[in-house]
Amino acid sequence: MTVHIGAQTGDFAKTVLMPGDPLRAKFIAERYLANASKVTEVRGMMGYTGTYKGKKISVMGSGMGMPSMGIYSYELYTEYDVDNIIRIGSCGSFQEDVKVRDIVFAMGACTNSNFASQYGLPGTFSPIADYGLLSRSVEIANTKNIPIKVGNALSSDIFYDDNPKAWEKWSKMGVMVVEMEAAALYMNAARLNKNALAILTVSDSLVTGELTTAQEREKTFTDMMEIALELA
Ligand code: ADE
Repeated sequence: MTVHIGAQTGDFAKTVLMPGDPLRAKFIAERYLANASKVTEVRGMMGYTGTYKGKKISVMGSGMGMPSMGIYSYELYTEYDVDNIIRIGSCGSFQEDVKVRDIVFAMGACTNSNFASQYGLPGTFSPIADYGLLSRSVEIANTKNIPIKVGNALSSDIFYDDNPKAWEKWSKMGVMVVEMEAAALYMNAARLNKNALAILTVSDSLVTGELTTAQEREKTFTDMMEIALELA
């Protein structure tokens, strides 16, 4: 057991899918995994392990934001021998050609957070996805004829920004989307010599103000799940 995870050694698979919402983790376990059992629920952050096409796989909520993702991914990597964490989440679009319901693989994760300062680097760090996970997920999407985009994301500490135009500066730098967890995940993976990837569906657009309904998100959610499960 760790401070924030109540599971025993061996309870998690080598690959963990991480949606932000623990209820989403429960739904995925019940809908997609065979023989799923709950392995942790400290603070309601549920984690499950089961099998998909005969292979052991886990799914656990990450919570919202870099501190929450930072805690859970660190404990999974260091205490439960997890090698791969695939974040499956939503994001907002910064670009006109990145539409709601699109699927985006976050090749890089810029951030406005202070997370990297702990490493004391003599410069700025570029948090990036694991190339193996990224290239395999592109192959899977192509094989399944699921359209995807690959690009840079912003992992923001701020959802309600006092400066409503701040996103435009990231947009000018070609950053595709905003979410709130990938950079912490990528930095933990880098520091611990592990692997990570964030697969995101666009739920809203800062360019057009468009929002998706829960119903509309269902189809892209299914596509995103198919890619993440095959990857695992
Ligand atoms: N996740 C989904 N949409 C988002 C947004 N607009 N900002 C931050 N995280 C998000």
